[in-house]
Amino acid sequence: MRDADLSATLLAWYDRNARNLPWRIPPARSRNGELPDPYRVWLSEVMLQQTTVPVAARYFDRFCDRWPTVEDLAAAEDRDILAAWAGLGYYARARNLIKCARIVVNDLGGEFPRTETELVKLPGIGPYTAAAITAIAHDFRAIAVDGNIERIVARLHAVRQPLAKAKPELRKLAAQLLPSRRYGDFSQAMMDLGSIVCRPRRPDCEHCPWSQACRARELGIEDSLPARLRKAAKPQVLGEAYVGRREDGAWLLERRPGKGLLGGMPGWPGSGWGHEVAAEPPWDGDWHRVEGSVSHVFTHFKLELRVFVAKIPAAGAANRGEFVPTEEFVRDSLPTLMRKVFDLALPSFCP
Ligand code: ADE
Repeated sequence: MRDADLSATLLAWYDRNARNLPWRIPPARSRNGELPDPYRVWLSEVMLQQTTVPVAARYFDRFCDRWPTVEDLAAAEDRDILAAWAGLGYYARARNLIKCARIVVNDLGGEFPRTETELVKLPGIGPYTAAAITAIAHDFRAIAVDGNIERIVARLHAVRQPLAKAKPELRKLAAQLLPSRRYGDFSQAMMDLGSIVCRPRRPDCEHCPWSQACRARELGIEDSLPARLRKAAKPQVLGEAYVGRREDGAWLLERRPGKGLLGGMPGWPGSGWGHEVAAEPPWDGDWHRVEGSVSHVFTHFKLELRVFVAKIPAAGAANRGEFVPTEEFVRDSLPTLMRKVFDLALPSFCP
């Protein structure tokens, strides 16, 4: 099949099978030229950078209800945005989201740029997100190539080189597939195909609009593409977390430094994380180790946290952190790691 026929076949498949997503204009409307609000496209793409569609959809609706425009978001308090982002992970994304919204409002008159070149200058927008916004929000010629699209193209053309080497070739092959219109729908059709049909494992070739054209399927190697070199195991790192509660019910929390892992997010005071850890309790008194521990996987390492609890007297003074009254404490405004620590510690405070 020629590339033009492939893109036409995929768009026809998308017209029938597009997922219904809260940030998306369905194909019945986008075909007639209706475009989505660039703010919603940008917000969804930033959320989707490291998050699955079902989780991003929940957060997306909450953000849009609370901050319906980029002006609303730019005017919000950092800590409210960080609290609403809690649980989505990769908190540098939230900090960049705030910076980007303020640049768009203060320097760009509230309009998102339309070209990839201009978009990548903004905080938190890399080449993938820039291409996705250009194509989806403006229907300009661009293709957002992520791991899903690399997988589809590697299979379609039976590219057997390991992914790390094949990336430039896959990008070129993906660009050749672009239709002569409906760029936004094409990008989203590729995303849907990668998610519903051309899945990483056990692709559903029976329902694939490209099954007749797919070289990997013809060769029976679709399951083993794209080829990958084995990943190095993530190192294991240790740490300690201290969950202190004062007699009046207040929890002892600490805001983490602005930069670095979980930067700017609230959490339980803790030790540094490493191969050996030195105890750094935030109150000089009796701490008890809770049975079990918390495991959490970050991009570059696995963390195991031992959890300690203390009941702190009314007059107890903390040497770091702040006591948050029980009625102001919201478990879900903590990042996931800190929620896990809380969940392990909580039974120690229940009589
Ligand atoms: N992944 C990244 N961007 C996406 C989008 N707009 N729709 C679905 N999945 C995506």
